[in-house]
Amino acid sequence: MKTLVTAADLQAAIDEERDLPGCAGLKVAFVPTMGALHEGHLSLVRKAREYADLVVVSIFVNPLQFGAGEDFDKYPRTLEADEALLESAGADLLFAPTVEVIYPEVGELGVAAGIAAARAQSKLNPALKSGPVGATFEGAARPGHFDGMLAVVARLFELVKPDFAVFGAKDAQQLFLIRRMAADLFPDLHIIEAPIVREASGLAMSSRNRYLDQAALEVAGHLSKALKVGKAAAETIGAKPSLVINAARARLEGVPEAKLDYLALVDPSSFEPIDDSFTGRALMLIAAVVGSTRLIDNLTIDFQEPSA
Ligand code: PAJ
Repeated sequence: MKTLVTAADLQAAIDEERDLPGCAGLKVAFVPTMGALHEGHLSLVRKAREYADLVVVSIFVNPLQFGAGEDFDKYPRTLEADEALLESAGADLLFAPTVEVIYPEVGELGVAAGIAAARAQSKLNPALKSGPVGATFEGAARPGHFDGMLAVVARLFELVKPDFAVFGAKDAQQLFLIRRMAADLFPDLHIIEAPIVREASGLAMSSRNRYLDQAALEVAGHLSKALKVGKAAAETIGAKPSLVINAARARLEGVPEAKLDYLALVDPSSFEPIDDSFTGRALMLIAAVVGSTRLIDNLTIDFQEPSA
């Protein structure tokens, strides 16, 4: 696996693969990440391999998607370990750009003014606005997060020019917004969803789990258990959405260390909350803060038509 830092080197490395004999129609699959890789990320790399001959992974901790007071500075940066993991998972190219490569404005104006300029620039493109959906759930808790996320993902798509891009179901709202943006700006790109990879406890793997000590990990494990209680209520006793939410919420009542932000059921096709008349596949979302770490998770729940 080769690691590339500049856009020109990335382009050259992709072209080199394309120019190999018999590789003219080479397909590229892309897995964007912020590093601090775990088995969830590696599952995306393996999924990418199912779709394409060349698998490109990026590691870039994107300043645009972090708000003031969030963990941008302390976000774990573990490039050497990540390279070894990617090598073993079979990635071909790692794109690990500097902030100036992704946002040339930073090279011209310095970090603070450059990032502000990049943010302003991306606001000019309506397809990069996360809109009303981007202001709910994670977007309500993290203003500007999804606009910053869309800006970097679009920039990475422009540089890598993939045929396929793989994202985890773990970040369901992010995936919803990326699908919409890609349909507008990159109509030939196929967005692939990969399932959530969990610890044995049920806890969804996350780079931020590194912030949790043993006691916090145990608390965090209750989030997925609450989702499971909700799913069981719907799928085994036919509970309606409002009851499902109550059942899941009740599961967390004995766990005050998990500060619940939201527990909600949405229609995956609109990301809008559902009411009790909903039937079909919904997505149950949860977000909670454990210690000072914000954790999210989700689970699909099937609501059947009431039997006559
Ligand atoms: P990051 O949090 O590093 O996640 C990179 C990808 O890994 C995302 O598609 C995410 O959904 C997926 N992922 C994370 N944990 C997972 C798990 N337990 N199971 C399956 N997939 C998992 O998401 C981002 O980075 C950034 O916002 C990014 C898209 C790279 C833009 O900066």
